[in-house]
Amino acid sequence: MAKLNILHFPDKRLRTKAKDIHVIDDALRVIVSNMLETMYDAPGVGLAATQVNIHKRLIVIDVSEEKDQPLCFINPVITHKEGVELGQEGCLSVPGYYEDVERAETITVTALDKDAKPFELTTDGLLAICIQHEIDHLDGKLFVDYLSPLKRNRIRKKLERLDKDQALKQA
Ligand code: NI
Repeated sequence: MAKLNILHFPDKRLRTKAKDIHVIDDALRVIVSNMLETMYDAPGVGLAATQVNIHKRLIVIDVSEEKDQPLCFINPVITHKEGVELGQEGCLSVPGYYEDVERAETITVTALDKDAKPFELTTDGLLAICIQHEIDHLDGKLFVDYLSPLKRNRIRKKLERLDKDQALKQA
């Protein structure tokens, strides 16, 4: 297993639209393991392949308290949305920022698991928010896109400065 590098906003690669996955093999399962390791290490509750510069429709999530219930969604599609809920979100690609975002309260999602088995899940709460947030990543969208331009620009400037400082330190 290997830890992967997480891209930070405003990196343009985060705007790439991910492609459907047609082959679910051991190579893909290695990516899933590496993404889970990266997510747990961060630590975070979800990670989309886009965030680690892999532009395939794949997300991993674990919202459990004990961090022992990893979920993997391949080619996830939200087939039903109901209600509206405002919840605070953060993102491993936008480190240090937490803002309220409006999402559907209950969703139904269909996807394939890491053994290529199709499944359907209807859920709400943190898991529903997380699935919507991660699928946005696959479409090149970030939670800061829901904020006012003023707020988004302020976050962008601070993160650009932070990443520049880190690059200098590593040089
Ligand atoms: Ni995110």
